[in-house]
Amino acid sequence: MARTVFVLNGPNLNALGIREPGIYGGGTLGDIEKSCHDLGNTLGLKIDFRQSNHEGVLVDWLQEAGEKADGVAINPGAYSHTSIALHDAIRSIDIPVVELHLSNIHAREDFRHTSMVSPVAAGVIIGFGPNSYDLALRALAQILES
Ligand code: DQA
Repeated sequence: MARTVFVLNGPNLNALGIREPGIYGGGTLGDIEKSCHDLGNTLGLKIDFRQSNHEGVLVDWLQEAGEKADGVAINPGAYSHTSIALHDAIRSIDIPVVELHLSNIHAREDFRHTSMVSPVAAGVIIGFGPNSYDLALRALAQILES
């Protein structure tokens, strides 16, 4: 049976394609969603792809993933740098959570250099553009197989 992976996206990621294309590229979140579904089919993962601009909704989805899913790939957007609530939600669930970022947050402003999510993530993928999502799914597939 296919394993279920939630792919969660935080604030402003719905604006990919319009938002700072020099940093995030010209592709849309819809393009990323399609490629996650395609790769999920190859890897035997059922992808549940979601985006919210609201911190509490992301907390709700992490809790839901803890009950229904086998793993999570999350791009928490700016909440990466601020959210103890996301940190606590990830700590409280017993499935692997891979953090990912499109841009190399360490090559950008100082305030992006810290992530509240990284210490509780199974691993972190940073700076490969839309390919960060593919790498996160491949990493999760390997974790779930082992
Ligand atoms: C981001 C990096 C964050 O610093 C930023 O706030 C985002 C996107 C990324 O994918 O590169 O919204 O998570």
